[in-house]
Amino acid sequence: MTVPRRYLIQTFGCQMNEHDSERIAGLLEQDGLVAATSVDDADVVVLNTCCIRENADNRLYGQLGHLKSLKESRDGMQIMVGGCLAQKDRDQIQSRAGYVDVVFGTHNVASAPGLLRRSVLEGPVMEILDEHEAYPSALPARREADHSAWVTIQIGCDNNCAFCIVPSVRGKEVSRRMGDIIHEVEELAKDGVREITLLGQNVNSYGRDLGVGQYRPEFSDLLRALDAIDGIDRIRYTSPHPKDFRPDTIAAMAECASVCEHLHLPLQSGSDRILARMHRGYTASRYLEKLRLARESMPDLAVTTDIIIGFPGETDEDFAATLAVAEVAQYDSVYTFIYSPRPGTEAATMIDEFVDPDVAARRMELLDEVVERSALAKHQARVGRVELALVEGPSKKDPNVWSARTGQNKLVHFSADGVNIGDLVEVRIEYAAPHWLRGVFVGKHSSARRARTRIAVTAL
Ligand code: SAH
Ligand code: SF4
Ligand code: F3S
Repeated sequence: MTVPRRYLIQTFGCQMNEHDSERIAGLLEQDGLVAATSVDDADVVVLNTCCIRENADNRLYGQLGHLKSLKESRDGMQIMVGGCLAQKDRDQIQSRAGYVDVVFGTHNVASAPGLLRRSVLEGPVMEILDEHEAYPSALPARREADHSAWVTIQIGCDNNCAFCIVPSVRGKEVSRRMGDIIHEVEELAKDGVREITLLGQNVNSYGRDLGVGQYRPEFSDLLRALDAIDGIDRIRYTSPHPKDFRPDTIAAMAECASVCEHLHLPLQSGSDRILARMHRGYTASRYLEKLRLARESMPDLAVTTDIIIGFPGETDEDFAATLAVAEVAQYDSVYTFIYSPRPGTEAATMIDEFVDPDVAARRMELLDEVVERSALAKHQARVGRVELALVEGPSKKDPNVWSARTGQNKLVHFSADGVNIGDLVEVRIEYAAPHWLRGVFVGKHSSARRARTRIAVTAL
């Protein structure tokens, strides 16, 4: 009997890459490979890469250097590089790291196992396509968790944010047919999944490229249709774009009992001048107005965001405007990024206006202080409440403690016996830190669906 080859996938970047990795795993397993537990016992190592910021690039080449020595000491070991950085760098990867066996891109995940087989016979291979060959969700997947699943509703992006490389590595925006999404979610529910996260770069423009005759599905239609599926307790989605985030989405979120009370609405900057230079298509006041309406419709809504510091030309005054918006928005959590020039993007040409790295670092500290304050206040407001949370697994720090996620997407730690991954539990919150909560186990619960609220959302 031959021993099956073992694979290990290391994923960098966002949820789209995480989900692609699940598909790569599914495809490799279809080809007879089995999962390895670490790089040290893997015959095939796949790096699923990201290129959103420069440090993501550097990490890849650092990791490849490490794998090179492993490969030299292990007969038959193969290295595959896929994802956004592979799509961007193409043949550069094998010219910088000739020991990489397979390079594949974001549009041909389905070919990965075939390329691997070919490389055994032919040596290093590379295949990058400029458009997708199959809608990726049609591929088999080996899900990371039994109770929770990603669902792609849209690939690519038609926006042209001046800082962003995603459209050039993920292609143009294509919505997935609503019937196919519903079918997948029904199947997931039958399989025991109770939480889904809808994925797209700009989910609010979902359906813009679909529809026949009078009917064109919108994101709100999709939310309502998925909410009606039995067994799905929680629906999350990422990311909406503020310019396309409309009252119908807010109304659907408020109405649909399974849609979580969490909104991730990327701000990027609080300065209208910078937002215009970024081509974001909204102003700070318009953004805040949408946020106000969402909170009015869903009083228990948690709000998170992404902010870029030091976009070319950002002055102290521009940055002060970002701080001011962050104060008003009172975010539950913020991902703050220092601007990183990406080759081929518009902002990367504004070299004369690049912000001094020390100035950007100082601004980041100031913003983080504001964010920590609001995050802590939001978390402290949960103390004393009983929260419904979905158990994710043992805590990373202490295996005797469970970690679970509330509807607001907050991490809560608690101790209990007889609890399993995927259980819905009630936890009374006793302590709040800026990034997590701690509580006391109250009991198990059968469904996370919120009480249905009927709210008429007026036009913006
Ligand atoms: N489609 C999502 C963003 C995906 S990228 C949206 O429109 O919101 C995730 C985040 O990375 C962005 O929100 C942005 O804050 C950050 N980002 C993207 N390009 C960047 C760059 N060149 N430098 C620093 N941060 C960047
Ligand atoms: Fe990038 Fe903008 Fe598209 Fe988001 S919406 S992926 S930031 S171009
Ligand atoms: Fe995601 Fe990074 Fe690609 S953020 S879309 S994996 S460039």
